[in-house]
Amino acid sequence: MRIALVGATGVVGQTILAILEERRIPVDTLLAYASRDREAGIVFRGAPVAVYAASTERIRADRPDVVFFASSDDASQEMAEALAASGAIVIDNSSTFRLDPRVPLVVPEVNPDAIGPADRIFPVANCTAIVLCVALAPIERAIGLAAVRVATYQAVSGAGRAGLEALANEERSPRAGGPMPAGSAFAAPIFRNVVPQIGSYDGDGDTGEEQKVIAETRKMLGRPDLHVAATTVRVPVRQAHSEAVFFETKRATTRDELAAIFSAAAGVVFHPRGIVTPLDVEGTDLVHIARVRPEPDSRTYWQMWIVGDQLRKGAATNAVQILQTLIEQGRFPVATGAPLR
Ligand SMILES: NC(=O)c1ccc[n+]([C@@H]2O[C@H](COP(=O)([O-])OP(=O)(O)OC[C@H]3O[C@@H](n4cnc5c(N)ncnc54)[C@H](OP(=O)(O)O)[C@@H]3O)[C@@H](O)[C@H]2O)c1
Repeated sequence: MRIALVGATGVVGQTILAILEERRIPVDTLLAYASRDREAGIVFRGAPVAVYAASTERIRADRPDVVFFASSDDASQEMAEALAASGAIVIDNSSTFRLDPRVPLVVPEVNPDAIGPADRIFPVANCTAIVLCVALAPIERAIGLAAVRVATYQAVSGAGRAGLEALANEERSPRAGGPMPAGSAFAAPIFRNVVPQIGSYDGDGDTGEEQKVIAETRKMLGRPDLHVAATTVRVPVRQAHSEAVFFETKRATTRDELAAIFSAAAGVVFHPRGIVTPLDVEGTDLVHIARVRPEPDSRTYWQMWIVGDQLRKGAATNAVQILQTLIEQGRFPVATGAPLR
């Protein structure tokens, strides 16, 4: 299989390379692209691989079976549809196609049936929304959701290399905790701080990140009517997003029933006791659920704490799982790699 990766030098691109190796995806040729050429720019399976400036013409001439985009909305907008029209399967981490009614928004644990035989473009949903939906889907299937509210605690690597660099620079700076550093990836200093703005505001005061969480959660759960509200916050954590989730169920339930549902759910680790933190889950592919409890005097209003590695399950792992699902469905003439989950 010929696999192209646009954004091979970025944090999601690098994680996709690791997961292709881990899951023993049958990659015969890896074709790597970024914004500019680099000789021996990356390493795949222990060998250096050259990186080329991405363009539709260049990638099309390299004849990939699959193109992963882990770059920018601009690059996906410019190249993805043309490459899909040339016959490649496109798996895109940008937000470009996520809400396009022509394409499915697939999380293999949540809605694998959304994949149609003619689909060629597969957006990977927002990282916060993926972690949220892996936790919510089992409740929606078994009991039904009436409403969801979420407050997030999002890692700096969610803003890519620039986010990691911003935190590292502030940690090194003698002005740590001081005024806003010039050119930061964030709306306010991030070291020793929390920043309740990710993206720009819409007319109602939601940020772009909040709008993505709301709209993409509805699409992935197949519930355009679901009440979803979000406040998304950046915190000085390197990797893995945490979310405090408040959900209302369509009927009364118990902690025991929810525990049984989560314990049987794909892609989930349920913690009946204790806590789980970003440091605990960094580098893993599962969504961890802890502190499940009712709101006072209620059996329909519930709370839980969820944590997932957003670079992996929220982006790269989900992208590779989509490819594995397509391989298992016989969309490529190759042997399947490691088991899907
Ligand atoms: N970080 C996350 O947790 C996360 C989660 C979900 C989704 N995403 C999405 O995944 C994508 C990549 O994010 P990231 O965090 O990995 O960003 P990043 O660390 O900043 O890396 C961006 C990558 O894209 C390349 N690139 C930028 N503009 C390009 C262009 N016009 N043509 C070709 N390549 C280009 C960069 O190449 P150079 O090295 O040449 O600059 C780099 O390889 C984004 O769409 C982002 O929204 C990220």
